[in-house]
Amino acid sequence: MSTLTSGGAVAPGTEAPAYPTDRGGCPFRQPAGLAEFRDRAPVARATFASGREGWLATGHAEVRAILRDPRFSVRIPGSLHESADVVKHLPGRGSLLWQDGEEHDSDRRLLAREFTVRRMNLLRPNIQRIVDEHIDRMLAARAPVDLVKMFAVPVPSAVISDLFGVPEDVREDFQSGAEAMMALNTDPEALAAAGMRVSMIVYQVIQRKRAEPGDDLISGLLALPDPEGVLTDEFLVTMASTLLIAAHDTTACMIGLGTALLLDNPDQLALLRERPDLVPGAVEEMLRYLSIAQRGAERVAVEDVEIAGVTIKAGDQVAVHIPGANLDPAISEGAEDFDVTRRPTPHVAFGFGSHQCIGQQLARIELQVVFETLLRRLPGLALAKPIDQIPFRDEMVFYGVHELPVTF
Ligand code: HEM
Repeated sequence: MSTLTSGGAVAPGTEAPAYPTDRGGCPFRQPAGLAEFRDRAPVARATFASGREGWLATGHAEVRAILRDPRFSVRIPGSLHESADVVKHLPGRGSLLWQDGEEHDSDRRLLAREFTVRRMNLLRPNIQRIVDEHIDRMLAARAPVDLVKMFAVPVPSAVISDLFGVPEDVREDFQSGAEAMMALNTDPEALAAAGMRVSMIVYQVIQRKRAEPGDDLISGLLALPDPEGVLTDEFLVTMASTLLIAAHDTTACMIGLGTALLLDNPDQLALLRERPDLVPGAVEEMLRYLSIAQRGAERVAVEDVEIAGVTIKAGDQVAVHIPGANLDPAISEGAEDFDVTRRPTPHVAFGFGSHQCIGQQLARIELQVVFETLLRRLPGLALAKPIDQIPFRDEMVFYGVHELPVTF
């Protein structure tokens, strides 16, 4: 039996209710039980797929409060969403996602010098060229084609590989390793092997860049002054692997899932075709509504924290639910609905606080170019199969579609 008290704690002698995962037939909606959790308590106890109990934060204000609070660490002992036998191998220094405090801030500052808004904006013409080339290839193929395979995956892969100077001959190998690392149900050995493969590829790229520097981000990092000797091969491999993986899967998922969403919502699609000036706002709305970081972020309290009427004790783990926060009615009226004309919202699709996504400007530019160009150049774009026959990525860290057969 499960009973939550009004504050979100569990009544003595009862179990916490199960973390909801069933999207109830509509692949674009979040699990119905999520709103119930939030209505009952924005921070509540839940039982996760690992079999363990933890806290589930679903309110927008509470999610932001936790993500900016230094009393929560990213160094979780194991994910609440993975089966208990998946052992977390925390990478060493250089992986921002697994670092706290001053070490994280100083490594992030280092990277931020190479990841400026100016540099990202300069990439726009190259992104447009890459998008156009991939649309040309789709048009040259005989429809139906799989938009994921021909467009959603290779476009971000080419963009980030160009930015990092990854040579053509290893791009495909890198992509398959990165994908294996992002599956929620990958067995521990396969996960470790994929991690090793990705690190080896990145190591080789770094060696090539040391010998022959170019105009790319890795060469830029290698050229930074380094009086304290932080920029070792190990540090660079960890940092570059984290970035490359974070950049590949996320943007690819947004392109595939965002296209499926538009094709399943003909009114919104027609509006965007008529008014391409709405595309930047529509991208924000897709980021918010789809919230592809479907299980959110995870943190562990390093000291007792009072929030929303409950005490999260030191050592307790919290699933900080990004979709829950982004669909909170407090963020915008009718937040459960998809509306490309929605006024800007303070969504947390890129996280919040010190770990907020460092690649968000790049992702935004890519998605804006992708959707503007896709709608302009493929006026007849349509699903080649009914939506209920499309395989969705329920089992992956980032939600999306495994394939999207389309005609044009
Ligand atoms: C639509 C695409 C993307 C989405 C939805 C997304 C989402 C996120 C989220 C939610 C976080 C915060 C995780 C946490 O707090 O635990 C994050 C962090 C991060 N993202 Fe992204 N991301 C996207 C694209 C990218 C791209 C293109 C890059 C790199 C070029 C990137 C690199 C990173 C890195 C390095 C972090 C860790 C930052 C830190 O810990 O300081 N992401 N992302």
